[in-house]
Amino acid sequence: AGVFRRPPELVPYATGFDAGDPARPFAKFALTQKLGQGKFVPGLSTTVAGYNGIFPGPTIRVNQGTRTEVRIRNALPATALLHSGAFNTVTHLHGSASLPQFDGYANDFTTPGKFKTYHYPNWQAARTLWYHDHNHLVTAQGVYSGLAAVYPLSDRFERAQLPQGEFDVPLLISDVMFKADASLGYNDNGHLGLWGDIIMVNGVPWPTMKVKPRVYRFRVLVGSITRSYRPTLSTGDPFYVVGTDGGMTPKVEAVKSWRQGTAERYEVLIDFRKYKVGQMIEMRNLSNKNNVDYANTNKIMRFQVVADSGSAAGSISAIPMTLDTGASPNAARGGLHAMDLTPGMAVAKRELRVVRQGGEWTINEETWEDVEKSGFSKVFASPPSYSVEQWTITNASGGWFHPVHIHLIDAKIIARNTNGGKPFPWENGPKDVFYAGENESVTVLMQFDTGAHTGGRYMIHCHNLVHEDHDMMVQFSVGDWRN
Ligand code: C2O
Ligand code: CU
Repeated sequence: AGVFRRPPELVPYATGFDAGDPARPFAKFALTQKLGQGKFVPGLSTTVAGYNGIFPGPTIRVNQGTRTEVRIRNALPATALLHSGAFNTVTHLHGSASLPQFDGYANDFTTPGKFKTYHYPNWQAARTLWYHDHNHLVTAQGVYSGLAAVYPLSDRFERAQLPQGEFDVPLLISDVMFKADASLGYNDNGHLGLWGDIIMVNGVPWPTMKVKPRVYRFRVLVGSITRSYRPTLSTGDPFYVVGTDGGMTPKVEAVKSWRQGTAERYEVLIDFRKYKVGQMIEMRNLSNKNNVDYANTNKIMRFQVVADSGSAAGSISAIPMTLDTGASPNAARGGLHAMDLTPGMAVAKRELRVVRQGGEWTINEETWEDVEKSGFSKVFASPPSYSVEQWTITNASGGWFHPVHIHLIDAKIIARNTNGGKPFPWENGPKDVFYAGENESVTVLMQFDTGAHTGGRYMIHCHNLVHEDHDMMVQFSVGDWRN
């Protein structure tokens, strides 16, 4: 139990306007992937491999409409921390409709000593993105060794309705196990998953955060390799869900707990106004099926209410009932907000079945190895830009859960085979990761909105990173991608 902290925010090394046009702002950032010493275990230090040598890496905050360039230098040693291969890296900005060459394609890696400059469009609606390693076969080791960080994108709708500044708090939750010397223990249980016995929030085990008696917004991101969570408050009071992976939810839902798998983002409000100064409120973790739980994995963090002093700038005075998400930023090209999609718009319906076969995890009995063998030409689907499709993700394999991630898109969940056929109350917002529990299926609508670009190939994979690496990943193409 340490003191809560927020990751530092990265300052751009240059800002300006393309062609001197105030409508086209840019910001340029630089990051160095390097080893660093983390203080997680009292009195000991832990070698991590992080962006700027820290875990979590620096937070990058961007306003909608400002394009960014992020130069990422790989200054890691030749040999990786947690596997015996080269310490190659490739960065994916999860939640971004990036051009394909900047999307962190698994085989498009940077070797130690080299750098790559990633360009991000940031035209999308406000949301919590995160950037993390995506190197083929070793994504789990890369992320677990520290290569993960938050990237909040803001827009005027979000700024007008949700807490800002000190009341807008990223919570990157991960689980970890340490060896006796505090070095990172890594065990993927024969490619099933990694479950640590210690839960960290922003790199601090079970922290305590001081909060004022006000409404706070938490951007909850599960950065675990495998573990899923079900947060709940010790007071029995609700969380108010105001955002999902791809941005704000049109309707605010009060929930006493919710289920969250790796890479999913839920933005929730907690109303601390009713609590007394000095009161401790715990965020606990109810268990989900198919996790491995330990003595203390039922706790996440604590909040301690302190006297309200100083500025209240950025706080809100009432819990909203509904939120104005704005229209699609690409409405002029036919873009729709994910929550405005309807089944009648879908021009194709597809089935995406996740199964274990011969010790490998597959999607429709295919793996990334099949994609590689095809010279990267094999695709699961090839929708035109801006078309709408309906996909059903089915997990018929007993004994496992899979958080399935589809790059590029924001989707609307329209049906589940559980919960009376409906999405869960907390998932009525734009999503890019779909929790498919044991024997669950989930049906989603998505539009292949590429912005202004012509298309490319994008990955589909399980975000249990151990599954992704062995070898539960395929791809789709969008638009005119063969040129
Ligand atoms: Cu969060 Cu393909 O990744
Ligand atoms: Cu999986």
